[in-house]
Amino acid sequence: MKYKAYKDRLTKIADISYTTAVLGWDQETYMPEKGAGFRAQQIATLSGMIHELFTDKELGKTLNKLDNSKKLTEKQRRNITQTLKDYKRQKKYNREFVELLSKTQSECFQAWQQARKENNFKLYAPHLTKMIALKRKEAEILGYKKHPYDALLDQYEPGARVADLDILFKDVRSQLVAFVKKVAAAKQNDDKFMRLHYPKDKQWDFGIDLLKQMHYDFDAGRQDLSAHPFTTSFSPKDVRVTTRISENNFKSMIWSCIHEGGHGLYEQGLPDSEYGLPSGEAVSLGIHESQSRLWENMVGRGLPYWKANIKLARKYFPENLNDISAEQFWKASNIVTPSFIRTEADELTYHFHILIRYEIEKALMEGKLEVKDLPAYWNAKYKEYLGVKVPNDAQGVLQDIHWSHGSIGYFPTYSLGSFYAAQFYATAKKEVKSLEDKIENGNLLPLLEWLREKIHKHGKYYSAEELCKKVTGEKLNFNYFMDYATEKYSEIYGLK
Ligand code: CO
Repeated sequence: MKYKAYKDRLTKIADISYTTAVLGWDQETYMPEKGAGFRAQQIATLSGMIHELFTDKELGKTLNKLDNSKKLTEKQRRNITQTLKDYKRQKKYNREFVELLSKTQSECFQAWQQARKENNFKLYAPHLTKMIALKRKEAEILGYKKHPYDALLDQYEPGARVADLDILFKDVRSQLVAFVKKVAAAKQNDDKFMRLHYPKDKQWDFGIDLLKQMHYDFDAGRQDLSAHPFTTSFSPKDVRVTTRISENNFKSMIWSCIHEGGHGLYEQGLPDSEYGLPSGEAVSLGIHESQSRLWENMVGRGLPYWKANIKLARKYFPENLNDISAEQFWKASNIVTPSFIRTEADELTYHFHILIRYEIEKALMEGKLEVKDLPAYWNAKYKEYLGVKVPNDAQGVLQDIHWSHGSIGYFPTYSLGSFYAAQFYATAKKEVKSLEDKIENGNLLPLLEWLREKIHKHGKYYSAEELCKKVTGEKLNFNYFMDYATEKYSEIYGLK
């Protein structure tokens, strides 16, 4: 009986959260400019209601009773444990702190926008200093065992710890840096044909075809355009992805489309019978990102995939691609070049961008690095790991939005996503008979079915670590990514 009360309450909270998501999706896609002010107010009101419902004393009582109940099934018990953890965390914040954080966020975000526009870090520094102080305080409020950064990481990647990430990023430093140097020294491939003119409407149709081939369900989702591609969900039966199209950069649409499609498939694969409950939600940001990157990189930047799709691409763009082979297309889709902008990085050097942010965030949280020293520190790290000279702060330390929102601890989930993806994909290749032959024939269903069965359908029943062990037989291991990268790029760059 109590469990039903719990479920009803969580369903109600989910109804409001998903409604808020509809408003957020519309804000990024179709909302007219003048709507911004009231829209922000509407979203804030709904967010306040969610917070109230979730921190309500009655819910606390119900959760505590259920937590001691012996009558629950294993799935019910896990849901209660998870929700109780979230409830206790929410309860730790007092109103004063929440308001101060929210006020600091909007000031910091505005200062960041201005600073980036004017390429002037000094405009941002005092606000970011305040933000970092608040984040250090937040870590104390939330509590941690070993490292203050652990408390923040846990919000995005439950269970992730500095102790584990240090080992992972040490491998990135020692193995990946050396390998990328070898690739950079090899003969480079040509991708000029990717920057010819690709008309917008044809690109759109091609992207839709790619999503259909992935079995993205258009009766339970749609695709629209937005400035920054994203995925959002209103239920597993209504999932929205967005893409962007640049007429002289074919790559931009293709891999953002496949990437968001991967996120979308995960959301569509969550069990709708568990609506609103942890068992109906994604495990973590890292696992979510593993789904997008598996499709984007392991599948969508693989040779079998382009053997299957080059003809379709030629059908849409004969004048640009009639002379291009699947192999050329594949090589052009995997160009490794160290650069200073994270979002434009290839799948190898990308992790140096994350490594740098990880080291900085950790040092800021430890109080070993001060905000005023950030630009110099940033530039030195880019020189060290990527060998590039950062031209200015706007394209350097000011490039990302995350810190201005106070999202400290978010960046590592991007790398975790890629590493999980490589490990999952290696397992899929073992377990799905002739997987890559099937991909080469344009048959992506066996892979999707495997992901559904092994990952999607469980929701948050398992933690990221448990899930990884259950699916692959061991915990996250960087060697999978390194093996994948070495094999693929040695072939592309003739390093054998
Ligand atoms: Co993503």
